[in-house]
Amino acid sequence: MPPIVFATGNANKVKEANAALRGAFEIIGLDEIGCREELPETSPTLEGNALEKARYVHQHYQADCFSEDTGLEVEALNGAPGVYSARYAGPARDAEANMGLLLSNLKGVENRNARFRTVIALILDGQEYTFEGIVNGQIIHIKKGKGGFGYDPIFVPEGYNRTFAQMPVEEKNAISHRGRAIAKLKAFLQEYGKG
Ligand code: IMP
Repeated sequence: MPPIVFATGNANKVKEANAALRGAFEIIGLDEIGCREELPETSPTLEGNALEKARYVHQHYQADCFSEDTGLEVEALNGAPGVYSARYAGPARDAEANMGLLLSNLKGVENRNARFRTVIALILDGQEYTFEGIVNGQIIHIKKGKGGFGYDPIFVPEGYNRTFAQMPVEEKNAISHRGRAIAKLKAFLQEYGKG
């Protein structure tokens, strides 16, 4: 089977996906197909954005491909910041500012339930498929840990007493939203490959 394009400009994500899918399929990034333009991401939902990016690559480059979109969904904020997680505090995509705004919006709020949700959209042989990965947890009151990125220092996954930012990356990936969505993609591709 030819390589599958991961519609992301983030080389680390391509590396992470290749490590997870090792042996099953080869994953290449947008650079490798000469796609350097910004992909459209105009939908108000994670599913919509993931599909939009994958459809763009499929239509313009005739490649089998997948794309993902992730958001942090906070129960007491009706699912915000959700699809707007990266730019919650403004267009600068500043993780510190985003965490500051979230903590201030949750000031005095007892319900700290939240979840990370990743949606992967795959287009393979012209058919569309989606895979969802969720990790439930709690937003704590102060930042803890130096690892990870984004909202990791204030998110404690269910069943743990450490934040994502306090975990080695392998431990986080084994239980994370993205890790779980990629595991579903891998299982699907393995079955598909047996055809
Ligand atoms: P993306 O779709 O992977 O680019 O994620 C969108 C935004 O969600 C990021 O800019 C982060 O703010 C947040 N995010 C996604 N995944 C994680 C994670 O694993 N830990 C913390 N924040 C994340």
